[in-house]
Amino acid sequence: RLSDGVRAKLEELAHGVEEGLLPAWIFNDPDLFELEKERIFSRSWVYLAHESEIPKPGDYVLRYILNNPYIVVRGEDGQVRAFLDMCRHRGMRVCRAEAGNASHFRCPFHGWTYRNDGALVGVPAEREAFAGDLRKEEWGLVPLPRLEAFDGLLFGNLDPGAPSLEEWLGEIRWYLELITKRSPAGLEVLGPPQRWVVPTDWKLALETFISDSYHTLMTHRSLIELGIAPKDAKYAMYGEQIHVPGKGHGAMVVGAPPGAQLPPFWGYPEEMMERARASYPTKEQWEVAKETRILLITLFPNFSIHNPIRRPDHKYPRPVPMLTFRVWHPLGPGRIEIFSWGLVEKDAPEWFKEKARHSYLRFFGSSGTFEQDDTEIWSHVAQNAASTQGGRVRLYYRMGLHLAPDPNWPGPGVAYGLNFTDANLRNFHRRYLEMLLA
Ligand code: FES
Ligand code: FE
Repeated sequence: RLSDGVRAKLEELAHGVEEGLLPAWIFNDPDLFELEKERIFSRSWVYLAHESEIPKPGDYVLRYILNNPYIVVRGEDGQVRAFLDMCRHRGMRVCRAEAGNASHFRCPFHGWTYRNDGALVGVPAEREAFAGDLRKEEWGLVPLPRLEAFDGLLFGNLDPGAPSLEEWLGEIRWYLELITKRSPAGLEVLGPPQRWVVPTDWKLALETFISDSYHTLMTHRSLIELGIAPKDAKYAMYGEQIHVPGKGHGAMVVGAPPGAQLPPFWGYPEEMMERARASYPTKEQWEVAKETRILLITLFPNFSIHNPIRRPDHKYPRPVPMLTFRVWHPLGPGRIEIFSWGLVEKDAPEWFKEKARHSYLRFFGSSGTFEQDDTEIWSHVAQNAASTQGGRVRLYYRMGLHLAPDPNWPGPGVAYGLNFTDANLRNFHRRYLEMLLA
């Protein structure tokens, strides 16, 4: 059913993936975006929300898979459900806020009213207008086909026949647990997500977070010069880059640069470190975590986690790590909306929560120093990708081809003992291509 033009584009992409030389047009192309909508985002597990955003019965947030708005809501029975925000009568939106608490959603068009478990329970002038013809039990809100959770992280899938979330995640779970299982109390969000629109492609944002340690040298040079990032400009190179073959997920586990005086376990306070040691499911996870100073995890197709240590500055004489979750939400070719949450361990001391929030906002919030460096770059790459000459250029994805996997790495997946490699990108693009062709 693909047009000859699109088939030719896919062939060129396949060739590029095979050679590690990707054509630049893939980062801003209307045909490809249409295909991504149908074959990637309509079949993948997409991150929606953290359970701590909706702790009480009736709490809801509005979240999106492609251009479909979903109300993610905790019912009076405590169960979390998700419904398309669309009235079954004539299609109006029934939820008028991005977050809130409601026992019912009443449509502003003609007033059909739905309970927060999706059931249609109220129809104005029902007797006169429908004379008993309307079977209300058949006209509830349309549920999201699949909704599943991993340690408080809620994911949705538009494909009713998709594999389970657990199967989708595979071996990346081990790395997710380094974040989610630090304490039995779990995580909580530090307020609603910050959101902003960037003229770029979702894959470019993802690439930075799944693999590109190499950009810190130059993109974030000013932060090194200011003493905000470690003195060693190659600081993000030290550690392991890991990918899950066949799934497209990847992680980067970065340790301290040689000779750097950085405390263990991201610099978290002693009590949090001890809780983690006792809570992690395996000894290996603890051994890895205690040597970690920066951890990035990216799940196919568009969800990233970033958990770096932050160096002390004039305001905070000791390091304060931060944790952010982000969704690279595709709006169109060359256009994304970033959803970015700050999070913290629920049982962290209050002083730490406050400092972690500041740390997050100042570095990776929408106006954060690191964040602004990155978005500036991503927009211009996407601009070039859509230009008549730039789109034809093939880009270099062959860094680290000389490396062999690290046989001593204690975690699952394929690991390389150096982060200056495109290994995770090559793995991501293989999976991406496989889904586009399926
Ligand atoms: Fe919702 Fe008519 S469209 S009640
Ligand atoms: Fe960056």
